[in-house]
Amino acid sequence: MSNSYSVAILGATGAVGREILELLESRNFPVSDLKLLASERSAGQTLPFRGENLPVEAVKSEAIFKNVDLVLASAGSSTSKTWAPIAVEKGAVVIDNSSAFRMHPEVPLVVPEVNGEAVANHKGIIANPNCTTILMTVAVWPLHQAQPVKRIVAATYQSASGAGAKAMAELKAQAREILEGKQPTSQVFPYPLAFNLFPHNSPLNDWGYCEEEMKMVNETRKIFDNQQIRITATCVRVPVLRAHSEAINLEFENPLSPEEAKEILQKAPGIKLVEDWQKNYFPMPVEATGKDEVLVGRIRQDISHPCGLELWLCGDQIRKGAALNAVQIAELLVEKGLLKKLAVGTKVN
Ligand code: A2P
Repeated sequence: MSNSYSVAILGATGAVGREILELLESRNFPVSDLKLLASERSAGQTLPFRGENLPVEAVKSEAIFKNVDLVLASAGSSTSKTWAPIAVEKGAVVIDNSSAFRMHPEVPLVVPEVNGEAVANHKGIIANPNCTTILMTVAVWPLHQAQPVKRIVAATYQSASGAGAKAMAELKAQAREILEGKQPTSQVFPYPLAFNLFPHNSPLNDWGYCEEEMKMVNETRKIFDNQQIRITATCVRVPVLRAHSEAINLEFENPLSPEEAKEILQKAPGIKLVEDWQKNYFPMPVEATGKDEVLVGRIRQDISHPCGLELWLCGDQIRKGAALNAVQIAELLVEKGLLKKLAVGTKVN
């Protein structure tokens, strides 16, 4: 079939990989052949796709990428660093969910609602941004188009899913342990997350910012193609299973009223405005779970600054924050006729 593709999911057994599998099916992505790849631990398992149980294979040799057109990778940075260049060399396009290539100057970093046109410049690898960054950029970009944003101050409330399937299982187990009067055990997270929260535990730099916070700064600037925009963030892990929340303060060059902002966001792609001021009802992570849209609400004037605006958002970290964004990039490639075999030897290291 000329208009369907041989696809591989690298990290198919993970939280994001499983969601990619579901999205390929539910969005009817033109798949002619599907390979499910993971570590040796999962070899022999099966996962359902279009009514069949497909085997999971361990990635062990280059040959596994032979004749693969598209790799959707979500198996961590070191796995991507090892296998993505090999898959590209074998002729595949790789959409990588890890941080391995995001800041590489030759790798487009894409949120389809913001900079979809950037896919045209790919040289084999396209990076899917960090989840908190995707959710924030979908909401901020349309406002920035109407009135340039000078500065973003973000505080995030990040779910366990950002640390993978094992982290979600650990949060549930900890809640159970605490309710049974036991000490919670932590293996994935450094501290108990159930009935608790802690600043994001990614490595800290010399200025006291963690990696996750710097991803929001640097990736947003790359996606917006704007190195001038000032961004600061505080990222916090909270005991929520799979949707992230963010409190965002925006400073515009000139005032943008809450009414104007709501009108813009109501029409913006990938956004659902959720506000009932009478009922004090605004986006919540449980309501964002399983949804494609980023829920935005509580849009109000910042009383401390005439050009300031406050907003609150929730988005499914596994879906729009990762799997859906990757599948949307793949759909863009198909739509633009960019998903075809690259010359063997085209390489991004
Ligand atoms: P496995 O299930 O065999 O460990 P999550 O982020 O939810 O923890 O998922 C990570 C995904 O990445 C899983 O599918 C996991 O497979 C896969 N993975 C982890 N390490 C490797 C590796 N070295 N090679 C291939 N896949 C890997």
